[in-house]
Amino acid sequence: MLNDALPVLACPHCGGALERVGRTVHCGNGHAFDIARQGYVSLLSGSGQAAQGDTAAMVAARGRFLDAGHYGPLMDAVAGEVARLQQRHPGGCVLDVGAGTGHYLAAALAQAPAAIGLAVDAAKAAARSAAHCHPRVGSVLADVWRQLPIADSSIGVALTVFAPRGPAELHRVLTNNGALIVATPTPRHLRELVGPLDLLGVDERKPERLEQAMGGHFARRRHTLLEFTMSLGHKDIEDLVGMGPSAWHSTEAQRQANPGRTADRERLGGDLRVPAAAPLASRQVAQRGGCGGPRSAKLHNLAKRRGGGQPSTAA
Ligand SMILES: C[S@@+](CC[C@H](N)C(=O)[O-])C[C@H]1O[C@@H](n2cnc3c(N)ncnc32)[C@H](O)[C@@H]1O
Ligand SMILES: [Zn+2]
Repeated sequence: MLNDALPVLACPHCGGALERVGRTVHCGNGHAFDIARQGYVSLLSGSGQAAQGDTAAMVAARGRFLDAGHYGPLMDAVAGEVARLQQRHPGGCVLDVGAGTGHYLAAALAQAPAAIGLAVDAAKAAARSAAHCHPRVGSVLADVWRQLPIADSSIGVALTVFAPRGPAELHRVLTNNGALIVATPTPRHLRELVGPLDLLGVDERKPERLEQAMGGHFARRRHTLLEFTMSLGHKDIEDLVGMGPSAWHSTEAQRQANPGRTADRERLGGDLRVPAAAPLASRQVAQRGGCGGPRSAKLHNLAKRRGGGQPSTAA
């Protein structure tokens, strides 16, 4: 429930602590945010173009695909890693950025009975789904490319599964002994489908770019390459295409303009064995420097006031 996650949330405008009064959460400076009927709260901030999360159709396709269990081995591995980390530091908050439907967070909480969960996503459909994925989850609409509406050093474990992530912000919100679990696809992921279905492939240099982005903020502690084969029928393949980045590129107009590809899709209708390949890396928060602007200091003080974390400038 959202109430469980309130202690780690921070006002996106001023960094103040948030309290709930009826269907609204507000900070001490009068910034107020309505709780949607579906149970999530929008803490989107700032002006300019809002983040473009997945569409409702993409989120629904992802929900069906995950319900069918095709990514079960990945989900089990993520939940197992959260459980392992919880043995050392039980309780606290597990954050999932780009949480989508909330399936991974729910699986993780099922193995972490003392923890609460916070799902963050930029898509309303995802926030709606995640709000009900598990009784201990709070769901927030926010953009991971901006400052997260989360207090400094308030999160024990953060997850990012096939989702965008801002390393500096994740570093800020994690406790000093916090950990970040990252799952990203390798170029082998779904490879047999990429050509025939004209899907967007994974850039060969992605692992290298990920290392560069994470270095400085996180030290890699454990790394497991998960490879498994999925047996997919026609509907599963439709959902897989519909939930992924290629969904943005496969409008009806494009399908009509490229009937060969459409025929290929239909030919792929039978049972297919498709490889999934995703390294799962567990990273430890790197030693913190003394940087951080006024907002960081404000959020840092907020965490200290709440007793919710350790000082973010510890050597
Ligand atoms: C590929 S899906 C992965 C969802 C989930 N982690 C899973 O694996 O089932 C990526 C998710 O990131 C979300 N997303 C995209 N851009 C975002 C942003 N700037 N801020 C927050 N979420 C974002 C999308 O709405 C989508 O739910
Ligand atoms: Zn405020």
